[in-house]
Amino acid sequence: MRGRIVLLTGCLLALGRLGAEEPVSYYRQIRPILVQNCQGCHQAASRQSGLDLTTYKDFRTGGRKGPAFVAGNPDQSVVVAYLTGAVKPQMPFGGKPLPDGDLNLFRRWIREGARDDTPADALAAAPAGPVVYHAPPVITALAISPDGQWMAVSGYREVLLHRAGGGLVARLPGISDRIHSLAFSPDGKTLAAVGGSPARFGEVQFWDVAARKLRSSTVLSSDTLFGASFSPDGSRLALGGADKSVRLFDTATGKEVRKIDLHEEWVFGTVFGVDGKRLVSVSRDRAAKLIDASTGAFIENVNLLHEGLNAIARHPRKDWVAIGGDEGVPYLYMMDRPRAMRIADDSTLIRAFEKQDGPIMTLAISPDGSLVAVGSAVGAVRLYNLETGRLAAKCTGHSGGIYAVAFAPDGQHLATGGFDGTVRIYDLSGKLAQSFVPVPIAPAVVSQR
Ligand code: HEC
Repeated sequence: MRGRIVLLTGCLLALGRLGAEEPVSYYRQIRPILVQNCQGCHQAASRQSGLDLTTYKDFRTGGRKGPAFVAGNPDQSVVVAYLTGAVKPQMPFGGKPLPDGDLNLFRRWIREGARDDTPADALAAAPAGPVVYHAPPVITALAISPDGQWMAVSGYREVLLHRAGGGLVARLPGISDRIHSLAFSPDGKTLAAVGGSPARFGEVQFWDVAARKLRSSTVLSSDTLFGASFSPDGSRLALGGADKSVRLFDTATGKEVRKIDLHEEWVFGTVFGVDGKRLVSVSRDRAAKLIDASTGAFIENVNLLHEGLNAIARHPRKDWVAIGGDEGVPYLYMMDRPRAMRIADDSTLIRAFEKQDGPIMTLAISPDGSLVAVGSAVGAVRLYNLETGRLAAKCTGHSGGIYAVAFAPDGQHLATGGFDGTVRIYDLSGKLAQSFVPVPIAPAVVSQR
C-alpha cells in the first residue's frame, strides 16, 4: 500500500518536472496565438498603435509604448498588461480576452527569457497573399469618383478599384471583413472605406486614390460602421455605427474629432447639408435626425417615424433628403421645418413615392437632381422623377437584394451592386449598358483521376 503511494507521488513529481523543464516556444506556441488573434490589426498594412506582430523582431520592437516585452519580467511587459486588461483597451481589441492558458504561455515565455526560436528558413516564407475568390462576394458598397474615372467596389477584406469603363486597376486590402460604405472626397483625392468585422471591431480607412496607398486605418468601437459621407468642402467625414453613434473624422489627419450619441439604434446613413454646417443621420430607431455638425447638438427629427431607416441621400443643390427603410416607401423631406409649424406633424414631407417590394437598402439622387434611384432587398432598382413622383425607369436583372447604387457624375448612368456580386451599369431608361464581376475569380479546381 505504502509502496504504491510513493510510486504515484513519484510519477506526479516527474510530470511536474517535465512541465517545468520544457520551455515555452515562441515559434510553436506564442506565434500561432498572435497569428490567430492579433495580426489582423498588427501587421505592416495596419500597425494599430505602431505595433507589428508578424515577426519576433517587430514584436520585440513594440509600438508607441516601446518594447512589447521585457525578457524575464512579465509584470513589466506591455503586452501582458494589454492582454490581462491591466491597461485598457484590453487586447485582442473588441474580441474575447485570451483564455488563461494562453495568457500563462505569454507569462512563462517572457519569464523564461522571451527567446526567439524561429527557424531560419521560416522567415523567408511568403506572407499571406491576396484573397482568393471562388464566387463573387456580396457587394455592400460602391462609389464613383467625382471626375467619373474610378469606381470603388467592396470586396472581402478589400476594396477593388476599377477604371469606370471596366478593368481592375488596384486591390486595396484592409483588415475589415466587410466594407459597408465607400465615399470619394469632393476633390477625388481621398477614398473613405468604412466597415468592420461583425461583433469584433469597426474600421475607418482613408486611401490616397492616386498613390493607391492606405493613408490611415482607425479601429474603433466593437462592431461595424456604416454610412460614410463627406462634407461638401471635403474636410470632414461623417459615419454611423452599430454602437448607435454618429462620428465625425477629420479628412486631413484621419482622426476622429467628434462622437455624437443621439440615436437609440444602429445608424446606417449620414449626409451633410449643402453648407456643411448640419447633417442628417438615419437609424434603425426610425428617426432621421438633423444635427448641428459643429457642436453635435440635436436640432430636430426631420421625419414622422414609421419603420427602421436604412438609407439616405441628399439633393445635389438643396437641403432635401430622400430616406427609406424597412417600410419600403421612399420619402423626400426638407431638412428644415418651415417656421411656425408644429413639431410632430409631417410638414417637412415633400413627397412619398411608391412602396417597393421589400425594405429599401440604398438610395441615390442624380447629379441634376431630377431622379431618385431606389435599391431594395427584393426586386428591381427603380428610378423616380423627383418633381412628379412618377416611376421613370426600372433596372432589372439582379438576383437578390441591392445594397449599393451610385449615379455616374455625367448623370447618364446608374451603377448597382448587391447580393449577386455583379456590378451593373444602366442608362437612365433602365437599359443595361454593362455588367461585370468586380473581383478576380480563381479558376475552378479540376480534379484529376
Ligand atoms: C481589432 C484590432 C486589434 C486586434 C485584433 C488586436 N489589437 Fe492590439 N491594438 C489595437 C488598437 C486599436 C490599439 C491601440 C489601443 C489604444 O491605445 O487605444 C492596440 C494596441 C496594442 C498594444 C499597445 C502597443 C503600443 O505600444 O502602444 C499591444 C501590446 C497590443 N495591442 C497587443 C495585441 C495583442 C497581443 C493582440 C492579440 C492577442 C492584439 N493586440 C489584437 C487593435 C487590435
